[in-house]
Amino acid sequence: MPNPSKILKPGTILFEIAWEVCNQIGGIFTYLKSKIPVMIDTYGDDYLLVGPYLSDHKKAEFRPISAGDNSALSRTITVIRELGFDVHHGYWLLDDSRPRVLLLNPNIEKSRLNEVKTRLWEKYKLSTINSDELMDQVIGFGEILKIFLSEYAKQIAEDQDIMAHFHEWTSASCIPELTDNQVRIATVFTTHSTILGRYLAPNESNYFTNLSGYDWHSKSIEFGIETRVLLERTITAKTQVLITDSESTCRECEIFLGRKPDQIIFNGIDKRPAPRYELFELYTLSREKIDAFVKALFLPSYPVRTEKTLYFFTSGRYEYRNKGFDLTLEAMARLNGRLMQQNSELTIVLFIISKKPFFHIKPEVLEARQKYQDLRKICAQISERLGPRLYATVTNTGRPVLPNLNNLVDEELLRTWKQAVLNFKRNELPPVSTHQLEEEDEISRFCQMSGLDNKESNRVKVIYYPDFMERAKSLLGMDYQEFIKGCNLGIFPSLYEPWGYTPMETAMAGTPVITSDTSGFGQYLSEIMPEHEAGEMYLLNRKFQTDENAIQQLTEQLFRFSETFETEHYIPRATISKQATDPLCWTNLQPRYHDAYKLAFTRLYPDSGLY
Ligand code: GLC
Repeated sequence: MPNPSKILKPGTILFEIAWEVCNQIGGIFTYLKSKIPVMIDTYGDDYLLVGPYLSDHKKAEFRPISAGDNSALSRTITVIRELGFDVHHGYWLLDDSRPRVLLLNPNIEKSRLNEVKTRLWEKYKLSTINSDELMDQVIGFGEILKIFLSEYAKQIAEDQDIMAHFHEWTSASCIPELTDNQVRIATVFTTHSTILGRYLAPNESNYFTNLSGYDWHSKSIEFGIETRVLLERTITAKTQVLITDSESTCRECEIFLGRKPDQIIFNGIDKRPAPRYELFELYTLSREKIDAFVKALFLPSYPVRTEKTLYFFTSGRYEYRNKGFDLTLEAMARLNGRLMQQNSELTIVLFIISKKPFFHIKPEVLEARQKYQDLRKICAQISERLGPRLYATVTNTGRPVLPNLNNLVDEELLRTWKQAVLNFKRNELPPVSTHQLEEEDEISRFCQMSGLDNKESNRVKVIYYPDFMERAKSLLGMDYQEFIKGCNLGIFPSLYEPWGYTPMETAMAGTPVITSDTSGFGQYLSEIMPEHEAGEMYLLNRKFQTDENAIQQLTEQLFRFSETFETEHYIPRATISKQATDPLCWTNLQPRYHDAYKLAFTRLYPDSGLY
């Protein structure tokens, strides 16, 4: 049931609009997914998500609502469809909630798109001549949304209000016209990053120290992103309320977008970490599954001892430098060298989970998994038959002499077993990437060049998994959340990371984590929990340090972490304090958005006295 005390003016409809609704790309997807339960709790049926309807859409996650009623929403959808737009209304099928969503097909007719482009130029001097596919979709999406919201405002009762909360420039190209056309809609725009930040951080040396000196316009021309930046600036100027999620993005907004955000609201979580003993139990369960996958992949080539193996991982949107994949790989290559030099018995498996276009899962990976499962089945059959027979020989003879075990197993089963073992062998090295990529990328190239090719003598092995890890199609038989619980260390030395859900989720899962002092979460942690290292959460200095020094620091952190495990057989788990997690709970953060919505209405109706 919605909580009436939290509702804005009764009957206010809240649209939450983002490119990642039903469309996983990066952190905004996690942001929405984790926040939705609290939103439904607070706003009930007055809450509706809006996103793009794309051709490669995960239809499995969307269930259409077929029957239209006579509500303002249904009437508006009918009008929009009659205008020739492709609109889908339904439920987003998430694990723990089923919010209502509206998906708009952003690929609108060329002639209509050109009309919008002409308008954007005439009104805002926004040239879209050098537009690309994404920009065209962003403009198309904005156009349908503008028409939809304007129509909806006409369909609802006089005293009803509309709140539209947009995320990131990709979803918000209609804000300028909605504002200028004086449609009675309050707008809030949350920017989760800035376009210039994403481009400049990985390409400019000393980005963080030089930040205040950059000229947004010349830099956006230099990087070929002028149209996008101009659109982002126009949206920022025209929205009633501007929000961002960290101090560093707040500074970027002032410098690149010319407006100081009204509020900084951190990104939240929906679940507090489980108690320590439970986390350890979950670790053991997930770890067994990871062990099985690793054995299936490596055993055909050479023996692996999973009890002397540590699982490290990194993940996130594929932005090689921004996400610090470059540093992680270089540090892992150096760690490999050091461990080999020391004749260490340890094995470290690094998983890299980041979506990249691929054709299919490699047949040798599927085959290895199948053969390993077959082998396990035969072993289970043997022990099933062996057990009672062994027991019978002892009870029959009464003597504690172990019989010849070969005689206790049927010939046929023994032959099947031998055959399965022989079949299991392969002459090649275990593949680095689990999927056949559409094209060679930086990760594969680096692994090849640096000798991280999974040869037997290497102490560091790499498994590059270029897809989202979802239970239904996961090679490991588990989803991402389960997987990270079974790992020993998450490595996220990001350079550009306005917030960073990946390190935050890792810490919440009880898995030790390395993040950077440039990530919003890292900054938060260093302030609220100065003793974070005692909780197995480490910060890498990237703000005021060269890449080379950061690589050395990271290699050292990884080496020390591995050494502790080897010498002390200690399996650390992360502990994040209650003092650090409480302020991040959506139940505590959501009211701050609520205040932002009220502020937006105050600006929309300055004289109403209602808000
Ligand atoms: C963007 C940022 C990331 C943040 C996410 C959610 O993807 O790059 O740092 O965690 O948005 O706010």
